[in-house]
Amino acid sequence: MPKAAFTTLGCKVNQYETQKILESFEEAGFEVVPFDAVADVYVVNTCSVTGQAESKSRYTVRKARRTNPDAKVVVTQPARGQYKAFSAVCTHVGCIMSEVANGTIDCPCHGGQFKVTNGAVVAGPPPSPLPARQVKVVNGQVILL
Ligand code: FES
Repeated sequence: MPKAAFTTLGCKVNQYETQKILESFEEAGFEVVPFDAVADVYVVNTCSVTGQAESKSRYTVRKARRTNPDAKVVVTQPARGQYKAFSAVCTHVGCIMSEVANGTIDCPCHGGQFKVTNGAVVAGPPPSPLPARQVKVVNGQVILL
């Protein structure tokens, strides 16, 4: 059963929203675990009305990424038969990549883009490349090592 962890930063409205999101994950078959546990999905419901709130949000996302850096992986095929894999967690503030197109892996949050060949930053605010993951092809299937 996939696991999801939730945390809320901010006001009572955010707490209410988090409860609703949590319930939708439960209905979809997720087990809800504490935020400091290893999970497949981490939901940080926050706002960034102040610099301090934004800083706290970034810290919380990084904490989740440290708990399970392999929560999401993106696989690309820069050339026929050549597979590359990277963490799907953006190195900016931790959004999950949403698309692979036109030679880049794209983050939906602030315009971050990374090369499909090596994960290098090509656009946006991410401070570092996507960390590489090892894969191999066995009987036509891409296996994460
Ligand atoms: S989180 Fe990806 S560009 Fe900001």
